[in-house]
Amino acid sequence: MANLTDEIKKRRTFAIISHPDAGKTTLTEKLLLFGGAIHVAGAVKSNKIKKTATSDWMEIEKQRGISVATSVMGFEYEGFKINILDTPGHQDFAEDTFRTLTAVDSVIIVIDAAKGVEQQTRRLMEVCRMRNTPVIIFVNKMDREGRDPFDILDELENELKIKVRPLSWPINMGAKFKGVYNIYEHDLSLFKPDKQHVTERMEIKDINDPHIDEVVGKDDAQKLRDDIELIDGVYPPFDELDYLDGHLAPVFFGSALNTFGVKELLDCFIHIAPSPQPTQAVERVVEPGEEKFTGFVFKIQANMDPNHRSCIAFVKVCSGVFHRNQYYYHVRSDKQMRFTAPTAFMAQKKEIIDEVYPGDVVGLPDNGVFKIGDTLTEGEKIHFKGLPSFSPEMFKYIENTDPMKTKQLNKGIEQLMDEGVAQLFVNQFNNRKIIGTVGQLQFEVIQYRLLHEYGASCRWEPVHLYKACWIESDDDEALEAFKRRKHQFMALDREGRDVFLADSSYVLSIAQQDFPKIKFHFTSEF
Ligand code: G4P
Repeated sequence: MANLTDEIKKRRTFAIISHPDAGKTTLTEKLLLFGGAIHVAGAVKSNKIKKTATSDWMEIEKQRGISVATSVMGFEYEGFKINILDTPGHQDFAEDTFRTLTAVDSVIIVIDAAKGVEQQTRRLMEVCRMRNTPVIIFVNKMDREGRDPFDILDELENELKIKVRPLSWPINMGAKFKGVYNIYEHDLSLFKPDKQHVTERMEIKDINDPHIDEVVGKDDAQKLRDDIELIDGVYPPFDELDYLDGHLAPVFFGSALNTFGVKELLDCFIHIAPSPQPTQAVERVVEPGEEKFTGFVFKIQANMDPNHRSCIAFVKVCSGVFHRNQYYYHVRSDKQMRFTAPTAFMAQKKEIIDEVYPGDVVGLPDNGVFKIGDTLTEGEKIHFKGLPSFSPEMFKYIENTDPMKTKQLNKGIEQLMDEGVAQLFVNQFNNRKIIGTVGQLQFEVIQYRLLHEYGASCRWEPVHLYKACWIESDDDEALEAFKRRKHQFMALDREGRDVFLADSSYVLSIAQQDFPKIKFHFTSEF
């Protein structure tokens, strides 16, 4: 068996996040190209569903079917084992992305140079900030006319609320784009549009090297020197610890489509990005180097074959080594389980694996035992934190339309909620079930899957709600008084926690004023 400490040190597990269309898929593909994991561009068929109209559900199904393979992409690069955890591009599946972010040690954010910071990036960054996840920013599409790079840096700082520090710098953009100067390693790459190959980097002594004038021209060389001088004047030197604490984001510029500026990003990433970090459990902090295996389920992916309902549970290894055919303790069910065919994810392939190390993800075949957030250990009863549910954006009552199939419907709802497809709240006043989602698409997913996988049919009825807030108080009496007063709007989530269903922002703010002893939370973890 390989040395556990060495295996941990060489691992980098991260996610790429962006607003749809900024270039996440393209960048992912180029990183795989560098890792030799794929050989031609265009090979990653990604699970992007964004271009499909909402109504085209069958198309989405098809695309989701292939997304298992691209959910986790592992590859080797320069002696490092890199795991990219894919996140769905479509914003209606944002909750999936939030959960994936709990399983990574760092994040790369892709920004479109012309569009700057967009809405979904802002939201995802909030999640990173909550968890102090280190982020690196890649400003993409420099081959097109975009905004002034200094303006982009200001916008990143203001909108993403994080300090920034450029580590590469573009020489012009659009039609005049000439290349990037690598501030981190002091070399220069000249831009040559090429979708398949990697541009050679040119060693230079420093920014004053006259060679720069020869290759980019005097004016552009001067402009570059002025820019770098300005950068060094405005931005403090790059501080790695600040980055690791999640307070400072290094910024790179390039064009993913042209495989340009990507190597600078990757080479810096492997050196500064954190290796697997300790994981916080309710009971204690779990260190990756601990001898005994622990891990948690952060994603469950259903097989779209309606004839057999089989799933894959994605388990992030937090500590120790996971072995095939060994018994592990499933904490929630208090049972021992053994896995004969665990799978590893290398590039886009899934293969059976014998040993899995911290930072890696192992796929376990699941026929309905696993729930998002479940913990596996060698016997210790621990529960990992950090899989919060966020207050949904849309709510609907779910109603049974076939009284003969009530059992199937209830089972289907339970299992889909276990998979984390949406959230269920039971109104304590009328006992009706409310499903909360991030977007309309999830309602369609649920209805379709209930019918095709469970033979149950349902219909949606409107319920006018603004937010679901988890409530708590140090003062039991105050809590009871609140629940009595708001009894029509109280619900329980699946863990039996109290949730207040506010029907407008006005009602919510009045409630916050009138009940100062009650804490209102917009995520289930506080
Ligand atoms: P996403 O996963 O973040 O949604 O973005 P994706 O990589 O699919 O990229 C969105 C579009 O932007 C694609 O074009 C892609 O080719 C283009 N793109 C990505 N990187 C660059 C870049 O560096 N420069 C330029 N000019 N374009 C870039 P598309 O036409 O929408 O899709 P496709 O038909 O090319 O796949």
